[in-house]
Amino acid sequence: MLIRGGTVVSEGRSSTADVRVRGQRIAAVDEHLASEPGEEVLEAAGVLVLPGLIDPHTHFGLDSGTGPTADDWSTGTASACAGGVTTCINFATQFPGQGFAEALDAVRRQAEERARVDWSLHLNITRLDDGWERELEQVVDQGVSSAKVYTTYKDAVFYVDDWTIYRLMQRSGPAGMLVQMHAENDDMLQGRRRELEAADKTSLAFHGEARPALAEAEAVSRGLFFSRVTGSPIYLVHLSNPLSVDLVTEARNAGIKALAETCPHFLCLNDSVYQRPDATRFLMTPPIRPEAMRRGLWERVRAGQVDTVGSDHCGYSLEQRGDTSAFGQVRNPGIPGVETTLPLMYTFGVKAGLIDLQQLVRLTSEGPARAFGLWPQKGRIAAGADADLVLFDPRRSGPLRDEELHSAAAFSPFAGLTLQGRVKTTVCRGRLVFDRGRVLGEEGWGRFTERLPALPESGWSG
Ligand code: URP
Ligand code: ZN
Repeated sequence: MLIRGGTVVSEGRSSTADVRVRGQRIAAVDEHLASEPGEEVLEAAGVLVLPGLIDPHTHFGLDSGTGPTADDWSTGTASACAGGVTTCINFATQFPGQGFAEALDAVRRQAEERARVDWSLHLNITRLDDGWERELEQVVDQGVSSAKVYTTYKDAVFYVDDWTIYRLMQRSGPAGMLVQMHAENDDMLQGRRRELEAADKTSLAFHGEARPALAEAEAVSRGLFFSRVTGSPIYLVHLSNPLSVDLVTEARNAGIKALAETCPHFLCLNDSVYQRPDATRFLMTPPIRPEAMRRGLWERVRAGQVDTVGSDHCGYSLEQRGDTSAFGQVRNPGIPGVETTLPLMYTFGVKAGLIDLQQLVRLTSEGPARAFGLWPQKGRIAAGADADLVLFDPRRSGPLRDEELHSAAAFSPFAGLTLQGRVKTTVCRGRLVFDRGRVLGEEGWGRFTERLPALPESGWSG
């Protein structure tokens, strides 16, 4: 396959070039490559040719105790194909009675059969049972080098206490495991919730207020403290508060290995959405923040303080929310997003003049590849790398419609926004998985991708 005449953006550079794909790899990138007999030619003049996105935060098939998300691996990765996402790193929850390997195997079986793009797994640790230290090392050996802990959701399987996190981090660094933290101080959330309920402020309009931004920043500083005293790296997921990002930056400046992720919904929406009659579309945790914080987050993104953008794709349908008469009653927070990251980041970031194309690629491909041990195999357009590419047409513009999307959640919180640019074609390991409106990726094409341990000596460049 020859991709001809596009604007190729990779590794901090952007230029008009041709890209030759042979088999599953990129064979050459050059100013002018003559087409060879039998080669399929994709004309890309006027189009951006970017490394396929790596979404470091998806929850396909998540079950928090009330049944799985509408999106499974088939529909979730169909949505990925259409969004230019060629690798999804999904969470595998450790349920009661399961060791680490069992938790991963259960999800691995689903993904092997149904994933249409490449994938990897983060372990979601919920307990440390006897022998966990050895198990942790085995999991890293099998190419799973990140594990998430939750500081909230006490009513579900996910929550772990500080002692567990501290013990885990005493071992995670030496084992090559990057600990990821969903940071929200649960006591602060519960306190605020009681206050709101006492004042009869229980409708969805108060979803944002019920989970204060300060609760996130507090838990972030705790995670950074554990990183400081154990020496193990930490990755803070879905940061919504500029103060959280600043805490990460300060820690980094003090020599702590800490990484920051944010999400398109925090960058593109503000908390006025909770006043809308369709507020149920915007229920996720942490919630969407006030406009000043949205702007503040962009400032940090622009300044290079944020390493990755992940969608936190959690494809529950609106029906799966259950009772939406009060924020405290809602089941299943989470929104679909794997398909919309690229046009959102292009529209609100590049077109708005806040970031350039190189930064866009750093946040959505290169950053996740480096953070999660996929670099240099993925996240760049260069000879020898996997042929994971997205052709993005920045000229197409129009309001986003629920109907154009592929998630089984069947809605988007971004519907109605006028987005500049749409994905034209997605190539995953040399195969077209999306082209001009059609998902071509087949179930089972996606391959498990082993990741490097999070250790500098193994080439980890997070
Ligand atoms: O609301 C969200 N974010 N649901 C997904 C689970 C999580 O907290 O990451
Ligand atoms: Zn989370």
